[in-house]
Amino acid sequence: MKIIVIGTGYVGLVSSIGLAELGHTVFGVDKDHHKINTLLKGQEPFYEPDLGRLLKKNLKSHRLFFTASLAEVINKAEMIFICVGTPPKKDGSADLTYVKQVAQDINKYAKTGKVVITKSTVPVGTGQMIEDILNQKNGRRFFAVSCPEFLREGKAIYDFFHPDRIVVGAVKESTGYKVMNLFAKIKTHKIVTARETAELIKYASNAFLATKISFINEIANLCERVGADVEEVAKGMGYDKRIGPAFLKAGIGYGGSCFPKDVRALRQLAGGSGYNFRLLKSVIEVNSRQRKLFIEKIKRVMGSLNQKTITVLGLAFKDNTDDIRESAAIDIVKILQKAGAKVKVYDPEAMVNAKCLLHKKTVFCESPYAALEGSQAMIIATEWPIFADLSWNRVRVLMKKPVIFDGKNIVDDKKVRKLGFKYYPVGR
Ligand code: UGA
Repeated sequence: MKIIVIGTGYVGLVSSIGLAELGHTVFGVDKDHHKINTLLKGQEPFYEPDLGRLLKKNLKSHRLFFTASLAEVINKAEMIFICVGTPPKKDGSADLTYVKQVAQDINKYAKTGKVVITKSTVPVGTGQMIEDILNQKNGRRFFAVSCPEFLREGKAIYDFFHPDRIVVGAVKESTGYKVMNLFAKIKTHKIVTARETAELIKYASNAFLATKISFINEIANLCERVGADVEEVAKGMGYDKRIGPAFLKAGIGYGGSCFPKDVRALRQLAGGSGYNFRLLKSVIEVNSRQRKLFIEKIKRVMGSLNQKTITVLGLAFKDNTDDIRESAAIDIVKILQKAGAKVKVYDPEAMVNAKCLLHKKTVFCESPYAALEGSQAMIIATEWPIFADLSWNRVRVLMKKPVIFDGKNIVDDKKVRKLGFKYYPVGR
C-alpha cells in the first residue's frame, strides 16, 4: 500500500518508518525543509533507540521517501495519516490548528476517495470535523478514520511492532478494516470500532496510566508517615492480576509531552460536554504537588539551600529519551536555583535540549562523576539505569557530603547506606 504520513515529529516519524518496515511505500511530509533534508541524509532528528538504523535501511530500500511538498505526493497514495502536533491551549484543551490546516491542505490538493487517518491525539469529534472540512467541495467523498498511537518514547520502535492492541475507529466498518489491514503483519488484539470510541480510548488510556502514577504517589506519601515501604506495597498490589505491576513506580510524578497534556485535555473535554470529571482534577494536583513535596524534603534535610552545591542526575522526563518537555527534573533544577543553590547537572541524552531551557549559571558536566565532585547532595530526577549503577565507592570519595535524594527509587538502598550514604527515597 502507498501511504502519506503528514508530520515527522515523534508519532509521524516512528509511524513512517514502521509502516515502511512493514512493507508499505511511505511518503513522509513536513513543512520544515531543514528537517526533511536531515531525514533525507538518513539522520534522525531526535534520539530514539533503533530509529536511525531503520530510517537508513528503509531509505536505502526505496520504501521511505521524504518531501516538504504535500501537493507533489498526495495523489500517489490512497491513505493519508495525520501526525501533526496538538499542543495544549491555555485552558488545557487541545489546539487543533495544525490538524485543521492539514485537512484544508488535503482538501486543496487531493483527489476524492482517500482515507484520512488521524494518529495525533485529538479530542472526541475531531474525526467528524476533519470529514466536514474534507467533504466541503460538492461531489467529493473522503473518509476520516481514527487510529490512535500508544507508543512510549524511548521504546517507540519496539512498541510499533509489539503493540498491546491496535485500535481503528471509522464510520463504515469496511473502511476500518481496510486501515487495520495495513498492520496485517502485526499479531495483537485488533479493535475496529466507532470513530468517537477510538478517539476516547486514547485519552482514557493515558489518563488511567497517569491516575495509577498519582495513586501510587499518594500511597508513597502515606508510607512516609506510617513507616511502610511503597516499593513493597506496589509489589504486593501488582501481583493481583486485576491491578498489574506496571505504572506503580512512585517518585516525583509524571512528565513528558503526553500525560500532562492529555489528562488536562480529557478534563476539558469532559467539562465541554457538561460533565465534571472530578478524579482527573486530583490526578493533576497530586502530580504537581509531588515535586514540591520532594523539594520540601530536601530542605528539611539540608536546611537553607543558599550557596550549597547540589547535583541533579537526569534532565529528561524519563530514561531513554532526550525529551525534556514537562520534565520534573527541569522544574527541580529551577526551584533549587531559585533557592540559591549552585546546581551541577548530567544527563546521557538531554543536555543539549536542557541547555536551551536552563539558566546560564547551571553547570553542565560530562559525566555523573564530574557532576558529583564537591557536591553536598545528589538528586536522582530521571530513571536512567546508569544512575542506579554508579561506582558508589568512587562517588563516596568525590562528594563533599554523601547524601542521596532518590526521586525515582532506583538505587539499592542497603548498598549505599552500608557505604555511609544518607539515602532519602520517595515513600520508603
Ligand atoms: C505515554 C504512554 O505510556 C504511551 O502509551 C502513549 O502513547 C504516549 O504517552 C503518548 O500519548 O504519546 P510516554 O509519555 O512516552 O508514553 O512515557 P511513559 O513511559 O508513559 O512515562 C510518562 C511519565 O510517567 C514519565 O515521566 C515517567 O517517569 C512517569 N512514570 C511512569 C512514573 O512516574 N511511574 C511509573 O510507574 C511509570
